[in-house]
Amino acid sequence: MTAGTTWASLAVDMTDITTTPAWQALADHHTTMASVHMRDLFAGDPERFTRFSLTHGDLLLDFSKNRITAATMDRLHDLARAIDVKGRAERMFRGEAINTTENRPVLHVALRNRSNTPIPVGGVDVMPAVNAVLVRMADFATAVHDGRWLGYTGHPIAHIVNIGIGGSDLGPQMAVEALAHRRHPSLDMHFVSNVDGSQMARTLTGLDPARTLFIVASKTFTTEETMTNAASARAWLLAALKDDAAVARHFVAVSTNTRGVNDFGIDTANMFEFWDWVGGRYSLWSAIGLSIMLAVGPNGFFALLDGAHDMDRHFHDAPIERNLPIALALIGIWNANFLGADSHAVIPYDQRLHRLPAFLQQLDMESNGKSVTRDGAAVSAHTGPIVWGEPGTNGQHAFFQLLHQGTRPVPIDFILARESDYRLGRHHSMLVANCLAQSEALMMGKTATEARAELERDGLAGTALERLLPHKVFPGNRPSNTILIDRLDPATLGRLIALYEHKVFVQGAIWGVNSFDQWGVELGKQLARRILGEIEGGPALPHDSSTAALIARVAARNRQR
Ligand code: F6P
Repeated sequence: MTAGTTWASLAVDMTDITTTPAWQALADHHTTMASVHMRDLFAGDPERFTRFSLTHGDLLLDFSKNRITAATMDRLHDLARAIDVKGRAERMFRGEAINTTENRPVLHVALRNRSNTPIPVGGVDVMPAVNAVLVRMADFATAVHDGRWLGYTGHPIAHIVNIGIGGSDLGPQMAVEALAHRRHPSLDMHFVSNVDGSQMARTLTGLDPARTLFIVASKTFTTEETMTNAASARAWLLAALKDDAAVARHFVAVSTNTRGVNDFGIDTANMFEFWDWVGGRYSLWSAIGLSIMLAVGPNGFFALLDGAHDMDRHFHDAPIERNLPIALALIGIWNANFLGADSHAVIPYDQRLHRLPAFLQQLDMESNGKSVTRDGAAVSAHTGPIVWGEPGTNGQHAFFQLLHQGTRPVPIDFILARESDYRLGRHHSMLVANCLAQSEALMMGKTATEARAELERDGLAGTALERLLPHKVFPGNRPSNTILIDRLDPATLGRLIALYEHKVFVQGAIWGVNSFDQWGVELGKQLARRILGEIEGGPALPHDSSTAALIARVAARNRQR
């Protein structure tokens, strides 16, 4: 038992959620909802949008286009109460070691705790350290912007290359892209994550070593992809600048591992620290966000933190029935566990959010892609869905066919900014119209009667009409949420990301899993280390026949080169 854990909370931990009366009530309720069509629900209730939408600041969550009624929501709220969602959130905010397999608190909320209320970990308030790193980051970013931080040969920095992977890449990259319209004019931003050398090689092509700053971002500073990329970047730099002393002007590190940074050869004076209570996929708010701060400036970064903190307060304070992250989570549970959806699409109608689906993939799938509960028992309901997506309108011309007429229900989150930062003819009106049209079409569908009338209007009749008719029918009744914001600014982006973080927290709490570890990534890493030696000419090791044959073929063809 970890500090602060009570026997009462352990008892809740050990309850199989599917055996609770709240879950059973939803299962029973599902039978009455199975044949309900949302068309009829909308037709029967002019207040449906008001009833099933929530706002917080400029952010509106419309979840009315889901197959729900007031009775569904009542039961879902009961489910949230049954797992004591508020108590669980409180334990996170208080810094209890809720990541039980790693015996750590989970305190990304401290990184954006702009009200600065003390948050003790092991009896020590973490806020002074959090604030001190923010000040160092801001000083550094300002020095780069002002041209006070110069490269080794006295040139100002023009290119930033963030080297990191997973949470040390996806969050910063997503945010830098999302806030592209706010980017500091003298810097271009690059992100290298893949150990595939093509990414590093292509990124470095065209960069001037004398004006390039590398941020090596790794919580552990042991991740092989990142260490390999960082070593190649250093070699590239030294090949041009020809003095080891140049590293200190062109490399900074972001990590929890001071020794690792030192061993790599980066002066720890150029290291921005964070802490083991920050999960990788929750780390963009920490010094891992240095590239974001460089891109949008300290004030932009602070506004991002402000927005996230605002959502934290909402999540903490708002009642279950008026709580946006809880609503989003409960709708997701309803769609996945009761209506049978096994994936979840995130479709931002904003090209700047093109990395949001990838970011949310890690956030959601690494957090809740688990098959055992916190106490190690097999789960008895499906946990995290497959998360995927692409920006609209592009997706409409690619995979929306399946969303409208395929056999698998895919709940969707549409994300839309009412206002654009780019005034370009009718583009934004068209974007908005398309987004709203898609959720309407998915919900309403088109009946055979409507399709027939349309075909007749087009002059079709007889066999030709009958043959085409089934292809023209849209079943509708396909669930979606729409998240509407005023515009994509740092504070709103902060709110949006925190909304999803807390959604994932709530769902993990309901499924009873530990949303903050990721043991499932280890096995592949172990085996890759073993195979690497064989690929590079080492002795053959025992494998299954498929893997052995593939290794042998690669090795044999390598020898022929
Ligand atoms: O392998 C998965 C993972 O540990 C992620 O959870 C993490 O975000 C990523 O690797 C990168 O880790 P690090 O920041 O320690 O390099």
